[in-house]
Amino acid sequence: MPKQDTIGIIIAAGNSTRMNSNYYKQEYMLGSKILVQHAVDALKHAGIQWIIVVLNKKLEHIENYLTQDDGVHVAYQTAMKGTAGAVVAGINFLNNGNHKINHSNTTPILITCGDMPLINSNTYTKTLDFYTNKGVDVVLASTELTNPFGYGRVVRNLSGSVDKIVEHKDASANELKITEVNTGVYVANIQTLSKLLGKIGTANSSNEYYLTDIVTPGSKALTFDDAEQFTGVNTKEDFALALKIYYKRNAIMFIRNFGAIVMDIDNVYIDHDVQGAKDVTVYPNVTLQGTTSIGEGTTIHSGSRVQNSTIDKNVTLLDGSIIIDSTLGEGTTIGPYAYLRPGNSLGTNSKVGTFVEMKKSSLGNNTKVPHLAYIGDTIVGSNTNIGCGTITANYDGLNKHTTKIGSNSFVGSGVTLIAPVDVSDNSMIAAGTVVTQDIPSDALGISRTPQRNIDSFVERYRKAKASQKASQKASQGESITRKKAPRKVHK
Ligand code: UD1
Ligand code: CA
Repeated sequence: MPKQDTIGIIIAAGNSTRMNSNYYKQEYMLGSKILVQHAVDALKHAGIQWIIVVLNKKLEHIENYLTQDDGVHVAYQTAMKGTAGAVVAGINFLNNGNHKINHSNTTPILITCGDMPLINSNTYTKTLDFYTNKGVDVVLASTELTNPFGYGRVVRNLSGSVDKIVEHKDASANELKITEVNTGVYVANIQTLSKLLGKIGTANSSNEYYLTDIVTPGSKALTFDDAEQFTGVNTKEDFALALKIYYKRNAIMFIRNFGAIVMDIDNVYIDHDVQGAKDVTVYPNVTLQGTTSIGEGTTIHSGSRVQNSTIDKNVTLLDGSIIIDSTLGEGTTIGPYAYLRPGNSLGTNSKVGTFVEMKKSSLGNNTKVPHLAYIGDTIVGSNTNIGCGTITANYDGLNKHTTKIGSNSFVGSGVTLIAPVDVSDNSMIAAGTVVTQDIPSDALGISRTPQRNIDSFVERYRKAKASQKASQKASQGESITRKKAPRKVHK
């Protein structure tokens, strides 16, 4: 079945009570995306174009985040407590809403939960294919769990066909022994869903409208082996488990998909969408986030974090470096302990060394800032060396200004460049200079108080200090003797 005919409904309007948090689980970050976005992306990946996310009104602030994609709409559940109520809200939105989603009575609806961020997109594809092939009213995805605590159990009759789903809370002692559980993924067409949802009541221990009641004799379950993907986030413990699975799985995929070397798959934090390449080496405790891509042969040492950045081939990122929204050319060396804030672009074989902070700046090829510097709003040409302790003073207290430093130049140690200032190609700046004027090509910029040496100073100075100390001691001794005398009288 062409997946573009299917509409996805993600139910995510619950109250997150079990999370014991000031925030809703729907907005918890797993990698660089909120939980619900993972469900949206997996459905899109499965080829589903139209998705309705059902939220409660307290989650209005995530609507804009979710609907950046044209195919994603948000509906609000305002009535009918329970998972069935959320699907009703989704169907009502389809029938009444202001949208361009093409649908008819026979349009298949794939329902999934917003709190299951680890489901593979091909699980959705397989469930949809199963629905088409079986030609039954309702299909669901199930899995086997050694510890099924908390999950709805799939109850089968003597011939092995699905009878119903019973929630953990409502299950009999025998039903609690069932290890096949409901994953919360279902497919049915709009007409069937509307009919079945209309019949659901609240005769259960939670007094809620259970979506699981759409599963009746005649429904069919497709059972998946990989149970881990259905980990639902109901508590903070579940969330910790989901994070662990997510990062370990991504580390393994990073090796498998790209040919990377990962030193410790249990201790790296690589987001799902990060692109790697052959022989990228990742040391423990490295975080790679968002839309980052890493080129062949690049090595990232411990404690580094790279966010939404493009790193070319054979780059070395030494320990404890942070790279945000930046582009690094081939053969660049960074760190240890460098901080690249957003908006930097570094040329090939350039170097940003120990305790250097950069933002909105560019370095040409072979340019080096090896130690202890702040480079902000600065454009530097190629083959230039920036000395230790150099500062571009880009902020005048009101506005930010730009510094330009040309190619083949040499900036001495401890230089302060007061922006806006333009240093031409082939120039030099003497150590300790405060640059307030442009420096033309081929010139040396120098601003220094001339040094003078005072002969025989040290000996005279030390002698003066020593005699000062001696006379201070003598006068202190006198005052102590005077103070002590009266006490003796009283004894
Ligand atoms: C649900 C299923 C259970 C299944 C499990 C799989 C029901 C009654 N139970 O249980 O059979 O094994 O998922 O993970 O469906 N939600 C709403 N509106 C509501 C209540 C919940 O949109 O009024 C949303 C939640 O935000 C969540 C999803 O529905 O994304 C599931 O709700 P949750 O309370 O987590 O159900 P479970 O107890 O996990
Ligand atoms: Ca859940």
